Amino acid sequence: MSQSFFRNASWFHKGTKEYTRGGYEKASRAFIEGDLGGDLTGRGYMITGSNSGIGYCVALNIARSGGTVHMVCRNEQRGVDAREKIKKETGNENVFLYVCDLSRTRDVLRFCSEFIGTGTPLDVLVNNAGCCVNTRTMTDENFEINFATNTLAVYIMTTLFVPILERSIDPRVVTVCSAGMYTMKMIPNDLNSTKGKFDSVFVYAQNKRQQLVIMRYWSQMYESIHFSTMHPGWADTTIVQKGLPTFHWWMRNKLRTPQQGADTAHWLCVTPRIREFPSGRFFQDRVVIPEHLSTGTHSTIEEEDMLMRQLQEILQRFIPTQKGATPLLSGTGVVNPAPVEAPHPDKATPEEAPPPDKATPEEIPPPDKATPEETPPLDKATPEETPPEETPPPDKATPEEIPPPDKATPEETPPLDKATPEEIPPPDKATPEEIPPSAEPTPAERKDETQ
Ligand SMILES: NC(=O)c1ccc[n+]([C@@H]2O[C@H](COP(=O)([O-])OP(=O)(O)OC[C@H]3O[C@@H](n4cnc5c(N)ncnc54)[C@H](OP(=O)(O)O)[C@@H]3O)[C@@H](O)[C@H]2O)c1
Repeated sequence: MSQSFFRNASWFHKGTKEYTRGGYEKASRAFIEGDLGGDLTGRGYMITGSNSGIGYCVALNIARSGGTVHMVCRNEQRGVDAREKIKKETGNENVFLYVCDLSRTRDVLRFCSEFIGTGTPLDVLVNNAGCCVNTRTMTDENFEINFATNTLAVYIMTTLFVPILERSIDPRVVTVCSAGMYTMKMIPNDLNSTKGKFDSVFVYAQNKRQQLVIMRYWSQMYESIHFSTMHPGWADTTIVQKGLPTFHWWMRNKLRTPQQGADTAHWLCVTPRIREFPSGRFFQDRVVIPEHLSTGTHSTIEEEDMLMRQLQEILQRFIPTQKGATPLLSGTGVVNPAPVEAPHPDKATPEEAPPPDKATPEEIPPPDKATPEETPPLDKATPEETPPEETPPPDKATPEEIPPPDKATPEETPPLDKATPEEIPPPDKATPEEIPPSAEPTPAERKDETQ
């Protein structure tokens, strides 16, 4: 039997004990009384995907404690309904809605630019929105949709909000991750999942592993901000009901409530004891848990660097260039180019970490001001084709060294993915009876997922 079979089996066994409602109830006996208390008046919390499930519960809890809530949702009506419900239930009028489709990079840039431009302070960012789309779907910007939503949007939003978070006296970034990534090793050179048969569970787990790496890197770069990732357990939310109907049926009496699933994310947002825990860690039920359950899922430093480099390069392509300014150098203000040349966290000393970007919101040009000519095209090179040594760090490059922007519009850019619709595997038709008890996130069992 393969190592991955045992890895999956032991992970599922762990899940049935810890990730269920019973697991939550057991873990919650150790929770510290009053850890969620406190008046949050005056503090700003941005929560993506907060119209339902875990994000909704976090938003509701924050509003109940008096915090200002910024809800980022893709569907306006669902967002309005959720916002009004939160206002009505808590009496808190400081609940605001922003419509943004996180799978669309230009929309993310537009939203971030507009929000930052208002000068609204932000203390906590909760990267909660997530999806697990089961058919291979490319966005109109040529990104695989799960990667675009779960990884790229998290990277871009957090990157752009770092400068305003750094103005807070207690800034935090909480990313709702998943222990589903325990079964996988990160593969950094196929972010669009072009290789092999498309498997949404595999892609989702990859995205969640990527989130861990990103947050760990940033925790080393921005010491004033507390970064964390967390696993909510298995909660009865839309993503499970619609995306995992078989698993939902199997586990229907054991799933956590959305509030139970939201508990650790809420706690990470508000606990006054946050600095007792090192930044960049992975949490479950208010305790730090390991990033790996077994050998074989660890990435090398080079692989993690490769991920960070590619994300930065993608963002570079979307940031408009101000007249007379070199991309990513003075004038753009939004991007801290450190990930490329920042030493890996395992190697870096605090002194080696580059200083945070001091850009003011006013320096950020709105993405919709960029002309197609100003926007470099998507890179077609695979990571293997572009060894790190060959690409100078942006802030080290002279204007002459930076290749001239391609004139292609995003539409003209050939897709990274070469897959044809015929290559898309059909959804699994398994009935509940055919599914072994190791129901949820094993790849074979989650083929019936929808968005
Ligand atoms: N429930 C679990 O057992 C479980 C386990 C592990 C991890 N998680 C993670 O928990 C997080 C929250 O999920 P949930 O369980 O609360 O499920 P959910 O109720 O389906 O919430 C997902 C949220 O993300 C939003 N979203 C998805 N794609 C988006 C996009 N392109 N732009 C903007 N918003 C988008 C959804 O908006 P719409 O309503 O418009 O779709 C929804 O508000 C996710 O990151 C998920 O991976 C959940």
